[in-house]
Amino acid sequence: MLEKKHVLLGISGGIAAYKAAILVRALIKRGAEVRVVMTPAAKQFIAPLTLATLSRHPILVDFFNPENGAWNSHVDLGLWADAYVIAPATANTLGKMANGIADNLLVTTYLSARCPVFVAPAMDLDMYRHPSTVRNLARLAADGVHIVEPGSGFLASGLEGKGRMSEPDEIADALDAFFREMSRPKRLAGKKVVVSAGGTVEPIDAVRYISNYSSGKMGYALAGAFLRAGAEVTIVRASVDAALVGSVPGTREVEALSAADMLAAMRCSQADADILVMAAAVADYTPEETSDRKIKKKDGEPRLLLRLKETTDVAAELGRNKRPGQLLVGFALETDDEERHALEKLHRKRLDCIVLNSLRDPGAGFGCATNKITIIDKTGRFHRFGLKKKSEAAEDIVEQVCAMLDDAEQDEPAGL
Ligand code: CTP
Repeated sequence: MLEKKHVLLGISGGIAAYKAAILVRALIKRGAEVRVVMTPAAKQFIAPLTLATLSRHPILVDFFNPENGAWNSHVDLGLWADAYVIAPATANTLGKMANGIADNLLVTTYLSARCPVFVAPAMDLDMYRHPSTVRNLARLAADGVHIVEPGSGFLASGLEGKGRMSEPDEIADALDAFFREMSRPKRLAGKKVVVSAGGTVEPIDAVRYISNYSSGKMGYALAGAFLRAGAEVTIVRASVDAALVGSVPGTREVEALSAADMLAAMRCSQADADILVMAAAVADYTPEETSDRKIKKKDGEPRLLLRLKETTDVAAELGRNKRPGQLLVGFALETDDEERHALEKLHRKRLDCIVLNSLRDPGAGFGCATNKITIIDKTGRFHRFGLKKKSEAAEDIVEQVCAMLDDAEQDEPAGL
């Protein structure tokens, strides 16, 4: 996939810079044309001559050539590149990139680049896990930068841990996978998808609430899969694992904590959505009364009765108001008589398909990184899948949605 691709390699000043020579070779072997930008510090770790010889282009370090005043345009470099890979990316360079500090050619080029950017961090383990590095990487990820995670092992400091730059072939693989993904047909281009995720939170008083174990992982995996298929994706999130928030760059996120908030947000989204996915675990009941103060424990009262009232079923409400051609996908997490319950929900909520998972299947359910799903479509057909990573299960669901859209489009009367 790297054939004829213009890859700009940015090398910052860390010991892993010695591997940059192997990376240049790996990229060229895969057909890419490579140009190299280095920070002044990187020159201490690897000779520009080595890189210039391997890449067959002069190395760029300064904004201009002091000999003849020739200008090294970071704008032109950014426009030339199909991908900009910064490897190794030191903590210093990551910090500058995250904060827009453009004091060398490598970072100014980053700010000018319109192409996808990849960073391969490389540093000592304590630097890698320092809150400022964690913060900078999170900010870069939110800005759409692809992070090629470092590996664990012996570090130049003599310590052992995470921070070792990915191997050159792994970095080349990441680029390859990216371009492969980009070249896949975007079957959902122009479609608007709304995915709810996480578990709702129903307040009891100022400090307590009722919720459930949903982590939001499946919803975020789905959002990523829909995005990769070319859709415009909104995530309506209830309570989710903190690490998930903002973890799918390119999506819009809306917070809707309670079942009532979820109902309002999904109703609002329904107007212009093509596909609605209810992956959130919405509370069926919520406290009838909520105190805005803390309920105090009372001496001599060993029981506290909490009265709950039914919430509105969001999926059923969306099903009632579904526009022709709009698709509604629901989930069912069951513990017994799974298929009967899922089929009943599919029909009662007027879903186009329901994704069933059973808590009896090891590796499926709340918080797991994996899932085992069965998709039941509205004609009653069962599509069974094995235990997979949630990201892979999400691809299967998107595949099913695409097939349903194709069917719906074929069923449309000609001339419409
Ligand atoms: N759902 C919803 N609103 C609710 C409850 C559920 O939108 N108040 C949605 C869920 O997001 C899911 C589907 O309905 O897509 C099935 O949820 P589930 O909790 O399995 O079904 P319930 O109808 O609540 O039935 P039960 O809890 O009795 O199994």
